Amino acid sequence: MRHHIQRQTLDALLAQHRQGRDQVMLDRIEHIPVNLYTHPDVLRQEMTSVFRCYPMLVGHASRLQEPGSYLLSDWAKLPYVIVRDQEGPLRAFLNLCRHRGARLVSGREPCLKAFICPFHGWSYGLDGRLKGITKPYNFPDLDRGAFSLIELPVVERAGLVWIHPTPGADIDLDRYLGSLGDDLDHFKLDDLARYRKTRVIKQANWKLLIKTYLEGYHVPYLHRDTLSQAFRQGVIVHDEVGPHIRLVAARSQFSERMKCERAKRDILEVASVYYAFFPHAFFIMHPDYVSINLFYPEAPDRTLWTHEMLYRPERFEGGAGQKALEKRFRYTNDTVFDEEDFAVAEGVQAGLVYGGNTVHTLGLEEGLLAMFQQNIETAIRTHDLSGGGAARASGS
Ligand code: FES
Ligand SMILES: [Fe+2]
Repeated sequence: MRHHIQRQTLDALLAQHRQGRDQVMLDRIEHIPVNLYTHPDVLRQEMTSVFRCYPMLVGHASRLQEPGSYLLSDWAKLPYVIVRDQEGPLRAFLNLCRHRGARLVSGREPCLKAFICPFHGWSYGLDGRLKGITKPYNFPDLDRGAFSLIELPVVERAGLVWIHPTPGADIDLDRYLGSLGDDLDHFKLDDLARYRKTRVIKQANWKLLIKTYLEGYHVPYLHRDTLSQAFRQGVIVHDEVGPHIRLVAARSQFSERMKCERAKRDILEVASVYYAFFPHAFFIMHPDYVSINLFYPEAPDRTLWTHEMLYRPERFEGGAGQKALEKRFRYTNDTVFDEEDFAVAEGVQAGLVYGGNTVHTLGLEEGLLAMFQQNIETAIRTHDLSGGGAARASGS
């Protein structure tokens, strides 16, 4: 986050702080139909547009430093493997054999020297080229050149790895991230170390889970005994950058601490910075650790949530540092996200079965939920390849 953006954002936070409220995002209340969280047609449309036509953040690059190191997809619907080739570049492939589609890499391999299919033993180089066919007399006319692994575009930027889920697509990350690319460069995420990653299925629609992050209205109530202690006097401002959102939340004693020069120079001294990278990532920057939350739909009412925590090693040194880190992880992952935010989202989802609410009503400070929804609907209108009509339009 460049210094002039930090200064502008801090000024905006101070202005909100004087008013004692979050930045207003709507000029009137809005309603979101709840069938967007339950209708299988909606998910079908999202899968062929939102989850097909945009780059996707997949994780921290520190897993992929050595030749042969690799990163496997957590999401069975998009089974990729990303590997550091011997030559140096990252390569991403669909993790499936070109013979009859078996999974090539199971995740048990410590590192990869080649891809060897467990089913009938075909082998591929780390560049994806078909190298060996067992019992080759079975395939007399096979054009090996046409049987390379299916490659996905992959890019490393600012210590993070992004793929495009469509083979051959253009992954222009500068264009996709816009000015948020500068933000990420500035935060020097490549200096972070990995702490832990969890993968959990939540019984709620993927959008409901992300939307729990997109407003501060709930913080004093749902997080009364946890986050609201840190954000008690806090206010939130946001920026929309393309389909992405940057949220900045002032922490307690914000205005007092703004009197100190250091706070004016580094926004993380007084605020936490959040990014919703469209479509499925929610990224949280604290001064000493970072949370990468990714959401992958399994069904309209089921989502795979992964949470990877990264940390600044110099802030958590020695045994005491590791204990503090463990405590931080438990607090953030187990208490705030899982037992507070996502437990509410699961309750909301369960309540949709008998349909008490036909819509969810958004107040003026909840406008980012409407904006996120709007971006999804724009993506569906622009890219939907399923040929189905919009479930929202049917009102069913
Ligand atoms: S499916 Fe891979 S070798 Fe047959
Ligand atoms: Fe929350």
